[in-house]
Amino acid sequence: MSEGENLVAAWKAARDRLREAGVDTPAYDARLLLEAGAGVARTEILTDPYRMLSADQRDAVERLVARREAREPVSHILGRKHFWTFELRVTPDVLAPRPETETLVLCALDLVGADAPARVADLGAGTGAVCIAFAAERPAATIVAVDVSAAALAVAASNIAACGFADRIERVEDDWGAGLPDAAFDLVLSNPPYVRTGALGLLEPEVARYEPRLALDGGADGLDAYRRLLPQIARLLRPGGAFAVEIGQGQAEAVWALADEQGLAPEGVRADLAGIDRVVFGRRPVRG
Ligand SMILES: C[S@@+](CC[C@H](N)C(=O)[O-])C[C@H]1O[C@@H](n2cnc3c(N)ncnc32)[C@H](O)[C@@H]1O
Repeated sequence: MSEGENLVAAWKAARDRLREAGVDTPAYDARLLLEAGAGVARTEILTDPYRMLSADQRDAVERLVARREAREPVSHILGRKHFWTFELRVTPDVLAPRPETETLVLCALDLVGADAPARVADLGAGTGAVCIAFAAERPAATIVAVDVSAAALAVAASNIAACGFADRIERVEDDWGAGLPDAAFDLVLSNPPYVRTGALGLLEPEVARYEPRLALDGGADGLDAYRRLLPQIARLLRPGGAFAVEIGQGQAEAVWALADEQGLAPEGVRADLAGIDRVVFGRRPVRG
């Protein structure tokens, strides 16, 4: 970052460096990093673009831009990511919530009535994104947020408290809900790791280098987590209870079959905004 830069020059210089580094949204990311590093609001960049940066502001912006050049995700650099209507805390211990996971939330909302006092489990809660969004839209629901990672659960706990749901979302450290009681839930949700181990190295550097493998690696065919969690879902649901699981591209048929094998009754597949099949949902049959 050169001396004597104003806001717009700093933004353009950062944008060009990020573009050169292969970042796919260089202008947007440069603005976010300039705002955070210089401590200015977006409107100030627009209304006062020739305001000079102090040496401290320049140094702070430089540190953030250098991290993004190394392809660290903006969410990790800033320590936060937007999901649903919330700004969630993100650390290297959790997957930064993805926009496509809002499809899982939308599907879950269709499965539970607006005022239902539903008992819900979120298996693999990570930041708590899914259970927090669901809690916000279903005020009578109580939720158990499960993760095998104590570090992830600590992040979830801080997000749950910050969003005001500590009284309705309990946190449990557990292996896909194995320690939770039988037939106790009206709805079970999960966004498990579903990337094939062999494809991990093909992911963008932002994901491959900086996101926890535990949140990504779905084993040789990407389906290992479903093989372990669908039997738990079948056990945890009350007869007639509903489930919805996020899936990776091309996994709908296989996950549907795995759910069927566990005696669940898959009912549908929901696509995300890009038209990619993203969620398999269904119920535990009332009989059988
Ligand atoms: C793809 S991330 C989803 C995080 C969050 N629910 C979201 O949608 O953004 C998968 C999560 O599953 C957790 N996980 C992995 N193995 C698990 C297991 N055996 N039992 C419970 N959670 C597990 C990971 O720690 C990670 O937080």
